[in-house]
Amino acid sequence: MLSDKFWNYFFEIYEAIPRQGPGDRESTERALGLLPRLTSHHRILDIGCGSGAQTIDLARATAAQIVAVDNHEAFVTQLVKRAADQGLEARIQAQVGDMNDLAFPDGSFDVIWCEGAIVIIIGFAKGLSTWRRLLVPGGHMVVSELCWLRDDPPAEVKAFFEAEGADVTDMDARRKDIVENGYRLVGDFVLPAVGWWENYYVPLGATLERFRATHAGDQEALDVAARSQFEIDIYRRYPEHFGYGFFVMRRL
Ligand SMILES: C[S@@+](CC[C@H](N)C(=O)[O-])C[C@H]1O[C@@H](n2cnc3c(N)ncnc32)[C@H](O)[C@@H]1O
Repeated sequence: MLSDKFWNYFFEIYEAIPRQGPGDRESTERALGLLPRLTSHHRILDIGCGSGAQTIDLARATAAQIVAVDNHEAFVTQLVKRAADQGLEARIQAQVGDMNDLAFPDGSFDVIWCEGAIVIIIGFAKGLSTWRRLLVPGGHMVVSELCWLRDDPPAEVKAFFEAEGADVTDMDARRKDIVENGYRLVGDFVLPAVGWWENYYVPLGATLERFRATHAGDQEALDVAARSQFEIDIYRRYPEHFGYGFFVMRRL
């Protein structure tokens, strides 16, 4: 059980960066390119939206109405501000909510979008099956999730993700989950390395440097920073072993 102090430090770091997981506008748009054109009649649900980097990209690239949900209020507040700053507030409704308990009626959305957050519901397959009812028949789900890219992950990397509670499989196992949970796979690709560095690990690294200086001498704070730093270092050393698979699927 992690302490309140841990979470305060954790959010101090992650509220200071432009997105809370790997991703980039080009990949969001590439995945969108596999869907039918989204007009003002379509509704997107963005689950685990964080401070909304991909929400803003979705709003700019489509004419759809977007509901964005995250359980951390400060991220939702950041997204509300970002949307207002860009004149997108009429199309983005950001709200605090729990992905384990989304109280929308069946068939509420044409598209469900979830970048880097399905791991939280504990199980890629569980996310696909739990959220399926929220889609109209024939609606689409787009998910990016951690995958092994080779079949010989180093023990150190495996141990790190296991300790984080991440359910990492290869791309084929994800494709199988998609078919077994009532979807057709439309397409998939691997997030390029630039999506890990430019908007995520580069700003995270700079934030960690400032955070360590601010909290010098506070071991609990330094431990929180060390955990995030280790994540950066492990990707720097082993980028060929793991990545984010972007999966676009259609509800059957
Ligand atoms: C890895 S981040 C991804 C954020 C964003 N999609 C991105 O790519 O920048 C995961 C997000 O899930 C949110 N989250 C964690 N538990 C949640 C829950 N039970 N319900 C909704 N959101 C949750 C976190 O606050 C965080 O913003």
